[in-house]
Amino acid sequence: GEVTNDPYALATDAADALRGAVGVDSFDVALVMGSGWVPAADAIGETVAEIPVTDLPGFLPPAVQGHAGRIRAVRTPAGRNVLIFLGRTHLYEGRGVDPVVHGVRTAIRAGAGTIVLTNAAGGLRPETQEVGEAVLISDHINLTGASPITGATFVDLTDVYTPRLRELAREVDPSLTEGVYVAFRGPTYETPAEVRMCRILGGDMVGMSTVLEAIAAREGGAEVLGVSLVTNPGAGLVGEPLNHEEVLEVGRATATRMGGLLASVVGRL
Ligand code: 6GU
Repeated sequence: GEVTNDPYALATDAADALRGAVGVDSFDVALVMGSGWVPAADAIGETVAEIPVTDLPGFLPPAVQGHAGRIRAVRTPAGRNVLIFLGRTHLYEGRGVDPVVHGVRTAIRAGAGTIVLTNAAGGLRPETQEVGEAVLISDHINLTGASPITGATFVDLTDVYTPRLRELAREVDPSLTEGVYVAFRGPTYETPAEVRMCRILGGDMVGMSTVLEAIAAREGGAEVLGVSLVTNPGAGLVGEPLNHEEVLEVGRATATRMGGLLASVVGRL
């Protein structure tokens, strides 16, 4: 069809191509699996089809190890159609904001009214958080300096992370806690001084994703559930340097538990 540089029209094109490629007309839910979460995807349901993101207009090839860059269409035991993004594009890749939120915009145009955003995060409260723990995102602080919205579109962000969905997740697992997610552009991890700043600001987790997608989802009228997997303490809190391999390893070690959590939440939507 027509080539467009309007990111919203591009998402409509991608949604149409996605429906055709996987043979599903409309989706109920979309999940974005961040670093460490990809192994948990297998618990959600039966795979109907899986395609590389680059088969659809507007998606970029993945740049980072552990970010698989595939889209899976899944049918749950209860018969819901679920889209699972295995990997995401990050702002630190330097290709702008639109590629970062393209999956969320595409999912919404393919019918998804609920967007589940997962990520790996540094824990800012090691006194109460354990490595391998899932924390519900109650709110965020966007320090990326970016927004998916341009122009005078004033989107209310009082309840970015839908309270009803957080309640539902806590019914599934009453041991879940909630926290404020602080987002930096990356790709560097934070300095110890930045980690101390985040604690003073009221942050509980720190990462490099999720907030722009959450804003794009709210702009598109979808509800959002955000879940961080705490893979390590923030820099300087415990003393060990950080690395991406450790993030992926925590994901592998907790895949069964995280998959069970997501499958139960999706099953109750
Ligand atoms: Cl400590 N910081 C950031 N920005 N992202 C992370 C992280 C820390 N640990 C996992 N992902």
